Amino acid sequence: MTDRVLIFDTTLRDGEQSPGATMTHAEKLEIAAMLDDMSVDIIEAGFPIASEGDFAAVSAIAKASRNSTICGLSRANFKDIDRCWEAVKHAAKPRIHTFIGTSELHRAIPNLTMDQMAERIHDCVTHARNLCDDVQWSSMDATRTEWDFLKRTVEIAIAAGATTINIPDTVGYTAPVESADLIRRLIAECEGGKDVIFATHCHNDLGMATANSLAAVEGGARQIECTINGLGERAGNTALEEVVMAMKVRSDIMPFHSNVDSKKIMAISRRVATVSGFPVQFNKAIVGKNAFAHESGIHQDGMLKNAETFEIMRPTDVGLTETSLVMGKHSGRAALRSKLSELGYELADNQLADVFVRFKELADRKKEVFEEDLVALMRQNEAVEDRIKLKSLRVVCGTDGPQTADIVLTIDGVEKSASTTGDGPVDSAFNAVKALFDHKARLQLYQVHAVTEGTDAQATVSVRLEEDGRIATGQSADTDTVVASTKAYINALNRLIVRREKTAPDHDTKGVSYKDVGQ
Ligand code: KIV
Ligand code: ZN
Repeated sequence: MTDRVLIFDTTLRDGEQSPGATMTHAEKLEIAAMLDDMSVDIIEAGFPIASEGDFAAVSAIAKASRNSTICGLSRANFKDIDRCWEAVKHAAKPRIHTFIGTSELHRAIPNLTMDQMAERIHDCVTHARNLCDDVQWSSMDATRTEWDFLKRTVEIAIAAGATTINIPDTVGYTAPVESADLIRRLIAECEGGKDVIFATHCHNDLGMATANSLAAVEGGARQIECTINGLGERAGNTALEEVVMAMKVRSDIMPFHSNVDSKKIMAISRRVATVSGFPVQFNKAIVGKNAFAHESGIHQDGMLKNAETFEIMRPTDVGLTETSLVMGKHSGRAALRSKLSELGYELADNQLADVFVRFKELADRKKEVFEEDLVALMRQNEAVEDRIKLKSLRVVCGTDGPQTADIVLTIDGVEKSASTTGDGPVDSAFNAVKALFDHKARLQLYQVHAVTEGTDAQATVSVRLEEDGRIATGQSADTDTVVASTKAYINALNRLIVRREKTAPDHDTKGVSYKDVGQ
């Protein structure tokens, strides 16, 4: 047993399963490249059978991978496993991940007896192993599975050739002591338990995911499954930044380490927040806006005398610069490039030139351009793949109604215009979009907040749409709130279109049902 813990990032699979967190193909590739670059050991790039889009993304990530192992998810059937292999086989280091729900509740869904399930596990792992040397098997809902059956299934998977055994706490039900004991016991009592790597995959329903993952490592697990910012279904998953930094900061009591370059954490956190549409809460450990902010007099005083009084790690450990460089209209290209790089954007010269022009336009409108403004600016730059684009908007509003909106959109490259009225400027603008792109999505959430201070602040707007059980979140920012709202609405619609490609709506994993385990 070594002290090295493998980091398995599933932001692009389990994280993307969060309702509304759909990422585009280009965004997935970009996040995968960042994960690869920060030395994440294994990247779970997606669920290839779920849709053509997922398949294409996993294949492209596999082809582009440099250091990381690229893994794809598959249910316990040959069709899923074959499709997964077709996508990951392009990687220098491919992995097939196959899983089945082993607890009584989950066995009831495909209506398999214990014996039938045991046979299924044997057949699927054997099949996967015939395709790929690196096979991970997961027992979904392991922490609520009867011990005897869990042990039996783990032994079958090991005997059939699985090289990694994942013990997920699918519903975030376990607690640290139990988490450590379970792994310790499996390693000690399962035939072949010492010859494979045990992984821990914890959800955060009781807020214990990170503690449970670290406890599992204490018990002998040597792979932690996690996501950036803890993105994931319901309360999310173990956060990569938390486990990496906890092992680093408390190496005195946790003599384990990962190979992840912690200095890249802040940049990827911000990028994932932007592309997923899931902002990071201000007080989130490690990556929250307030994680290194000191407001009270006593804290500020202490910090000035000795930063260690109130900081257990340095901002630079996670990639923040000591001083926050405020940009303005006199800032040059080099400063912009360096600031964007810190925020996770590496731009080619021609891209930088384009962004620089728009940065100057913004700096002319705003006295100071903050990091958040730059993220908002970059976000607008990324709408290249979008089917619907805003060309222009003019809204008339005020005390004497009706409020009207004149809009020009480009839909699949064709310019279309409409003039509509509504109950207020935002409503009339949304009606105008609807008039040009008919859809039956319901607006579930509309939220406006200023990203920075002052009346010239950019407004960031979040819009959440729901259509037939599919959810898509859109975000945008502009110094004009109505423009920001309209762009956010269009952004959500574009994401909904991507989501529509993923088949049946009542299914829980991006269009495929866990219960479909038939071969
Ligand atoms: O939470 C879970 O059990 C999963 C499995 C598919 C590994 O995500
Ligand atoms: Zn999960």
